[in-house]
Amino acid sequence: MLVELLEGLHEPNVLEIGCGTGAYTKAVLDLCPTLRLVASDVSTESVALASRELQEHPNLVCETMDACSMSYPDNGFDVVTGYAIVHHTPMLQCLREVFRVLKPGGRILFFEPNLANPQQAFYSALPRPFAMRRLHMSPDERYFGRWKARRCLNAAGFADVSVRPFDFVHPRLSSRLIRLGTRVGLILERIPLVKEIAGSLVMSGTKPA
Ligand SMILES: C[S@@+](CC[C@H](N)C(=O)[O-])C[C@H]1O[C@@H](n2cnc3c(N)ncnc32)[C@H](O)[C@@H]1O
Repeated sequence: MLVELLEGLHEPNVLEIGCGTGAYTKAVLDLCPTLRLVASDVSTESVALASRELQEHPNLVCETMDACSMSYPDNGFDVVTGYAIVHHTPMLQCLREVFRVLKPGGRILFFEPNLANPQQAFYSALPRPFAMRRLHMSPDERYFGRWKARRCLNAAGFADVSVRPFDFVHPRLSSRLIRLGTRVGLILERIPLVKEIAGSLVMSGTKPA
């Protein structure tokens, strides 16, 4: 999906928010080695780890930054992306800030947990201290559904908004079953109603030119 987004852009300037220790950052750089990537996270410790882990990439800068209040100038990035970050933030505030730093015509791509997924709905309903202790959820995590995500993207000013459920492959599926799980998941993603309970949401939109 990211590769499609970057097609036709010469040396695109990409911002990743909530990079953590750099798992998604690495995947992005492996897929698109020529882009210029700024990977940011509110946690200085995570940024230091990501920076050390990915130090061989000359086109990467890692920075500590709160995605809801960034020091980047307006209209600077071709693409803003992130994996499992928006649900850690006040969504509308974060998306407005992302909108601000995007160039007109710039695109976003976020992958987030889906509240309509039964496991995530169950986790969300648990008392937070219990979920933090037993499931390692953090206090700021707030899962959301596709309609809320759509409303926030529209309210932040994005056009061509799409929020699509995808991914039925459970992270704990054994490696022996991944291929089968992926095939079954791709079928489930096409079935109306069933697809609504997929594990993730993919959010995209454009800043009007
Ligand atoms: C679930 S982790 C995902 C990390 C990474 N994207 C990955 O896929 O491995 C969420 C990350 O969001 C970061 N985060 C939470 N609130 C943030 C904010 N307001 N601004 C930037 N990063 C934030 C956390 O520090 C954490 O590293």
